[in-house]
Amino acid sequence: MWLLTLLLVVSATVSSGQGCGKFRQVAEGVILNQTFGETAKRIIEKSDNCTADCLAETDFVCTAFLSVVFGECVLFDKIDLNRQVMKDVSYYRLFTEACDGETPSIEYCHFKIIRTNVKVSASSVSPGMTSPSGCRDFCVARYHNLNCTAFTVGPADTLYSTCTLFQSVTSADVSDGSMDLWTTVCEAPVNCVYGPWNDWSSTCSTSCGGTQTRSRSISGEATNGGTACNMSLLSETQAGVERWWYGAF
Ligand SMILES: *[C@@H]1O[C@H](CO)[C@@H](O)[C@H](O)[C@H]1NC(C)=O
Ligand SMILES: *[C@@H]1O[C@H](CO)[C@@H](O)[C@H](O)[C@H]1NC(C)=O
Ligand SMILES: *[C@@H]1O[C@H](CO)[C@@H](O)[C@H](O)[C@H]1NC(C)=O
Ligand SMILES: *[C@@H]1O[C@H](CO)[C@@H](O)[C@H](O)[C@H]1NC(C)=O
Repeated sequence: MWLLTLLLVVSATVSSGQGCGKFRQVAEGVILNQTFGETAKRIIEKSDNCTADCLAETDFVCTAFLSVVFGECVLFDKIDLNRQVMKDVSYYRLFTEACDGETPSIEYCHFKIIRTNVKVSASSVSPGMTSPSGCRDFCVARYHNLNCTAFTVGPADTLYSTCTLFQSVTSADVSDGSMDLWTTVCEAPVNCVYGPWNDWSSTCSTSCGGTQTRSRSISGEATNGGTACNMSLLSETQAGVERWWYGAF
């Protein structure tokens, strides 16, 4: 029984710490300028190791960051993984602290043109003339605190045109015009699903100093940015258990 007690003490010690210093990528292609539910953030323009910068942060406890290879890091005190994350063709990857074995998965959204040659009469704000990607950035950055879910802007071949941001657009708001209508489209991630563990192998030397292994298979692949299957989680090994322990438990 002392063995069981010892295990409980060890796991309690690990989870009560001020972070474990381990980070895991939870999304890639993340659009900058969105808020993740943080209350403090810090931008480091040139970094060669965002993990190190995050751990070295002194103004707040850094638990997540956006990073781009050989470039910027955006450090966050906390992020809300229940929020939808806006993704695009971007080089930014989002990392969060991951102290246990599982990689959290998050819902993500992207912008998509759903109508062309329209104008929209819903209530709106406009930051002025922009490119389509600039208009998208104003929407993501919640220009004028608008919870922007849609915008209209000229087609991609127009360098600058009026950018108009909307909190919501219904089909009744849409009539013929000359703009593209973009809205957010969200996909729920589906994580890899593992099958049940098979029994532990009984391979164990007579004195039981050997090891035992067990394995499982994949019962469903990840989709929509869910956590991919990790081949190294398909089998595991433990030190052989003394035979009489079986009786004890
Ligand atoms: C980045 O920094 C972390 C924490 O100091 C360290 O563990 C890791 O090895 C570093 N990575 C690289 C690529 O230098
Ligand atoms: C997006 O963030 C960048 C870097 O922080 C900033 O320079 C830019 O003005 C922001 N864009 C918007 C639309 O807020
Ligand atoms: C925008 O969204 C935030 C967070 O979801 C919410 O607290 C706020 O009330 C919303 N603002 C408007 C104008 O709907
Ligand atoms: C796969 O699992 C191993 C063991 O837990 C872990 O060290 C590794 O980082 C994981 N790989 C990925 C890509 O999550």
